[in-house]
Amino acid sequence: MIRSPLMTVMTDAVMKASRSLKRDFGEVENLQVSRKGPGDFVSAADRKAEKILREALEKARPGYGLVMEEEGVVEGTDTSHRWHIDPLDGTTNFLHGLPQFAISVGLERDGQIVAGVIYDPAKDELFIAERGKGAYLNNRRIRVAARNDLADAVVGCGLPHIGRGDHGLFLRETAAVMGNVGGMRRFGAASLDLAYVACGRFDAYWERGLNSWDIAAGILMIREAGGFISDADGGSDPLTKGSVACGNEIMHRELLRLLKKAKG
Ligand code: IPD
Ligand code: CA
Ligand code: CA
Repeated sequence: MIRSPLMTVMTDAVMKASRSLKRDFGEVENLQVSRKGPGDFVSAADRKAEKILREALEKARPGYGLVMEEEGVVEGTDTSHRWHIDPLDGTTNFLHGLPQFAISVGLERDGQIVAGVIYDPAKDELFIAERGKGAYLNNRRIRVAARNDLADAVVGCGLPHIGRGDHGLFLRETAAVMGNVGGMRRFGAASLDLAYVACGRFDAYWERGLNSWDIAAGILMIREAGGFISDADGGSDPLTKGSVACGNEIMHRELLRLLKKAKG
C-alpha cells in the first residue's frame, strides 16, 4: 500500500514518540520494586511522548488545533482541523509492566474523523486508517469479524474502577452480556480494543466514560474495516458522547439490544 503524505506525517510522529515510550517501558520493570514505585516516572514518560507528537505534528501541519490528554486543548488558526492525541493509552498497564498500551492519534476535519493511527509498541503493531481508503494492520488490509452468533462472540469492555464510572450500570450491562456471549475480555487500552474489533480479534466492544483522544482513531478504524460503531446507547456521535459500542452490523445491533435491556 502507498501511504498518503498525511499518513506519513502521522506514522512518523507516532513512531518517533513510540521509541521514547518503549525505552521508558523498559525502565518501568526496574522501578516496580522501588519503594516509591514508577508513578512519577510514568507521568513523565507520558508527557514526553505527547511533547514529541505535538512537535512533529505542529511542524508538519502548522495551524491545526490539538486536543491532548495531558496538555489539553490548543485552538489552531486552521479551525477545520484538530488532532486528538493520546500519547499513552493504557497507562495502568504500562505502570504495571503489562505490555498492552498504545499511542493513538486521530485527525478531525470539519467534524469528521478522516485519519487515524494506533500503534502498539510492545507488539510492533501499527493500525492505520484513512477515510474512504480502508484500515490496515502492518500494511495488511483488515476487516471486522464475520461471526454473527453472539454465543461464539468474544466481547471486549471497559471496567469502571475506584472513583470512575457507573459501577451499578456496568454490573447490569455485564450481567446482560456475559450470559449471551462466548467470552468477555478487559484488556485496558481503549484504542487497542477498537483496533481489535477492526481486525476481527474481538467481535464486539463497548465502553463508557471515554474521551475523544481514546477513540478518535479507533472510530475511523472500525468504519474503514466495514464495522458499525455508535455510542453505547445507540447514538450516532460516539466521539462527542465519549462512549462506544461496535462490531459488525449484526454484533453491533445485538450488543446494543443487550445494553438497552440492562439499562431498563
Ligand atoms: C484509559 C484506557 C482504558 C479505559 C479508560 C481510559 P488512559 O486510558 O483506554 O482502557 O478503560 O477509560 O481512560 O488513561 O490509560 O490513557
Ligand atoms: Ca493516556
Ligand atoms: Ca486513554
